[in-house]
Amino acid sequence: MTTTTGTLSATDVHKSYRRGREQVHALRGVSVEVRPGEVVALLGRSGSGKTTLLNCLLGWEQPDAGSVHVPGAARPDAAGWATVAVVPQRFGLLDELTLADNVAMAARLAGAAEPGPAALAALAALRLEHLAGRMPDEVSLGEQQRTAIARALVVRPAFLIADEPTGRLDEELSTHVLTTLREVYAAAGTGVLLASHDPVVVANADRVVRLSDGQVIEG
Ligand SMILES: Nc1ncnc2c1ncn2[C@@H]1O[C@H](COP(=O)(O)OP(=O)(O)OP(=O)(O)O)[C@@H](O)[C@H]1O
Ligand SMILES: [Mg+2]
Repeated sequence: MTTTTGTLSATDVHKSYRRGREQVHALRGVSVEVRPGEVVALLGRSGSGKTTLLNCLLGWEQPDAGSVHVPGAARPDAAGWATVAVVPQRFGLLDELTLADNVAMAARLAGAAEPGPAALAALAALRLEHLAGRMPDEVSLGEQQRTAIARALVVRPAFLIADEPTGRLDEELSTHVLTTLREVYAAAGTGVLLASHDPVVVANADRVVRLSDGQVIEG
């Protein structure tokens, strides 16, 4: 695969885990790329390797072989939040901060001039303004998930990596969230990679990449 400078990419990535004497081949030569401004859906059954691939792109895990390229960063784990924002499968909100402060902190780290108002606007875009002062454990899982999306939305990053970002949302909210992401990110030229099982995600993607048993399959 030829890698253009502005493209987030994984090339021929292999990753195995050892569980006792058993070796699990989570990724077996996966290549994927996300160009600026495009929305790519990463599909595959549970255990097919989606989260492992995202973790390699984020630099949270090191591939055994193959390479990852993040535009503007020397290494994937050196990319700042404004380069690659993430919505983790388990959200990763800080329990000690209100929803508004969770989102504002991301805005502050990305250098926003007015993180507070930006955070409230991002929460409002995801229909959470009435919960801004609550702590994460005082809201539902779907509300926590939308807060994690607001935290990525507030930044207008070069790329977004999101792991099953609609897993806790109903169909109407999923559609609203994806439409909002598309609107905001299209203007910013953000490239988006969404791991999902959700038909709403597929319907909103420019392109679909399917993983099966650690490999990309056609069709
Ligand atoms: N830390 C780990 N140690 C051992 N095996 C692991 C580890 N993480 C993942 N695996 C295994 O690697 C394979 C791929 O896991 P991964 O989490 O990437 O799947 P996934 O496609 O994200 O699944 P899901 O849709 O359930 O989130 C699975 O067989 C899983 O059990
Ligand atoms: Mg997963």
